[in-house]
Amino acid sequence: MTQKISILGSTGSIGQSTLDVLRNHPEFEVFALSGHQNVKALSAQCQAFRPRYAVLTDPDDAASTAREFVDLGLDTEVLCGQQALQRIASDPAVDTVMAAIVGGAGLQPTLAAVAAGKKVLLANKESLVMAGGLFMDEVSRSGATLLPIDSEHNAIFQCLGNQLEVSDGVEKILLTGSGGPLLRRDLATLKEVTPDEACAHPNWQMGRKISVDSATMMNKGLELIEACWLFDLNPDQIEIVIHPQSIVHSMVQYRDGSVLAQMGQPDMKTPIAHALAWPDRMESGAQRLDFSTITELRFESIEVSRFPLLDLCRQVAGMDQCYAIALNAANEIAVAAFLEGEITFTQIQLIVEFAVNSTVAIELLSIADVLTVDQQTRALARQRISEGL
Ligand SMILES: NC(=O)c1ccc[n+]([C@@H]2O[C@H](COP(=O)([O-])OP(=O)(O)OC[C@H]3O[C@@H](n4cnc5c(N)ncnc54)[C@H](OP(=O)(O)O)[C@@H]3O)[C@@H](O)[C@H]2O)c1
Repeated sequence: MTQKISILGSTGSIGQSTLDVLRNHPEFEVFALSGHQNVKALSAQCQAFRPRYAVLTDPDDAASTAREFVDLGLDTEVLCGQQALQRIASDPAVDTVMAAIVGGAGLQPTLAAVAAGKKVLLANKESLVMAGGLFMDEVSRSGATLLPIDSEHNAIFQCLGNQLEVSDGVEKILLTGSGGPLLRRDLATLKEVTPDEACAHPNWQMGRKISVDSATMMNKGLELIEACWLFDLNPDQIEIVIHPQSIVHSMVQYRDGSVLAQMGQPDMKTPIAHALAWPDRMESGAQRLDFSTITELRFESIEVSRFPLLDLCRQVAGMDQCYAIALNAANEIAVAAFLEGEITFTQIQLIVEFAVNSTVAIELLSIADVLTVDQQTRALARQRISEGL
């Protein structure tokens, strides 16, 4: 039977990889696509996949794209804004939603898909970092199927026996990370790192925000918090291991000493195809590992002084949710400022630390409360940057 899918953030790196997988699978029908600034890419995707809906954030972009589609004789209806994203995530016709918007902007549409009980392919880790408890409660309430797309969490899911539940037999989770492009960089020169250097990941092709997060290893810290929520774990049940080759995507250690690892090329098409086909398997289009050419699989412990944000994330994972919201919001503002050349690479850490230290925990009763803390922290971080730190 055909499965209908909405892809939130189809113009991004994960969105494009999802469409690459779907290109060879006519059993999936693309129901809706969404983009933000990359209007041309969204238009090209609509011409190729002919979805029922396309969503853009800017009304002028949406209007000009709608006119273009009329001229092309394309039936795709163009919608605009947050409400429209939530609509394509929760439409009764949709079976599966790929949540691949980057950052806090992905929270509400992803939650709309969860609330509607969809099969949700979760790439937008920021949703869980910001609203973990409320988010997982909504998964239980609605009966949504949550499948992790982050390669590490997808690997853990597979090593747990294709499920989120962690049995008593599990001793710990080993979350692997390549260490990013600055693993061997002289610490004294970190403040000179340029956006292009920070985004030059040795193994993965990704969007610029997550690439900078990989360089600071904030990404691994966000993944630690994400894993705590997804698998219902304490931070001390998760060990982070540097694995520069990015072939082992993560591991689960059991009480009898067995360690199960999931391996594959560093290509997001594999976890995407795994989640699309779950509980079955399907062709992803990713290259296969060739063990005759793999000469080395190295593992190292973390040099904590090199990645202070990772340590901060571990502390925040054990604190009130408000601190995780502040951590994420300040990081988004700081990374955007770094990419714009407004601050240096090492100032990202200063802004995030300042925001977390300035946070006063409040009771979070709803997503509106989460968004309030998020907006307040963004304003604080922006102010700090404009004051020149
Ligand atoms: N890339 C990876 O390999 C990877 C791996 C694991 C997890 N993830 C996670 O997957 C998510 C997406 O990452 P990515 O690398 O694919 O990011 P990306 O390449 O930057 O793409 C982000 C997508 O979100 C859209 N977007 C950005 N801001 C938006 C806003 N304010 N409102 C609505 N849409 C917005 C973008 O639209 P435009 O491009 O049109 O502006 C694009 O479609 C992130 O949460 C990331 O942590 C990514």
